[in-house]
Amino acid sequence: MAAGNDPRSTAPDPPPGPDAPERARLDFARRSSYGDYLRLGTLLAAHQPLTAAHDEHLFITVHHVSELWLDLIVRELRAAMDQLAGGVTDAPLKGLTRVVRAQEQLTAAWEVLKTMTPAEYLQFRHAFGEASGFQSAGYRMVEVLLGNRNPTLLRPFEHRPDLHGPLQAALHAPSVYDLTLRLLAARGLPLPPEVLERDLAAPPAEHPAVLAAWLTVYRDPQRHWDLYELAEKLLDVEDHFRAWRFNHLTTVERTIGFRAGSGGTSGAGYLRRALDAVLFPELWQVRTQL
Ligand code: HEM
Repeated sequence: MAAGNDPRSTAPDPPPGPDAPERARLDFARRSSYGDYLRLGTLLAAHQPLTAAHDEHLFITVHHVSELWLDLIVRELRAAMDQLAGGVTDAPLKGLTRVVRAQEQLTAAWEVLKTMTPAEYLQFRHAFGEASGFQSAGYRMVEVLLGNRNPTLLRPFEHRPDLHGPLQAALHAPSVYDLTLRLLAARGLPLPPEVLERDLAAPPAEHPAVLAAWLTVYRDPQRHWDLYELAEKLLDVEDHFRAWRFNHLTTVERTIGFRAGSGGTSGAGYLRRALDAVLFPELWQVRTQL
């Protein structure tokens, strides 16, 4: 915060001593500091290992950092979706680029976590019981906004209306891809009612009319430049989503092998099947047809 804008910064700072950086503020008794603004006490207080195992710190940190990135991705996706719903295409491109950059950070976090060996993990695994990323509301919201929809996956949040309510609302609202297809239709590309008024709670099913519309865009990019750019940006998002999932699977296999997951699934088998989910099917198919 600029000192000039802070109503509390009335008293001049004492002159800095010989070792102080030039003009640095040194007295925060009556000013809001970095840690105050960012609520670092609260943030870091959430880091509560349940064991004395050294690696539990790493495990918690990577999960916390990942949840913060997921939260940012949700905000950026929602903003981009509002803009798309209003028929705007340039601003969502910027927002989706930020989503991709955040996804890169999420995926890079696996490299830190992979330094933990199975033996190190087993020193604290017993402590967190049935907790699992399977119960991550942030991750589920990203999936739902992107269009990977399965009502069963929202059941772990039923006891938490504050989490379940927004997820349920998003499940019955258009995904980023639904909004994109509505934009295509508004631009005169023919899409039938079963596409535009589909059951929103279901995952998208590939449709020949959607493929035909994307073919029109991809065969004449100059004419449909913003839609073309939007399509490629969505593909970037799915590409990075796949990269995160694949790295998760690899991290899981090297850490717990083929044991069942703490969330009750088969573990690696479940995560391998999840790799098959396709978010924007026609954007992958259009390449075959060009
Ligand atoms: C050594 C570290 C990790 C292991 C062994 C692990 C293991 C697993 C397993 C086995 C599952 C399947 C569900 C179940 O528990 O039965 C799962 C799901 C999940 N994990 Fe992890 N995980 C690890 C780290 C992380 C991290 C750092 C995140 C970051 C947020 C994360 C997020 C998720 C999410 C979102 C799911 C649900 C995926 C889906 O349903 O498609 N995991 N994890």
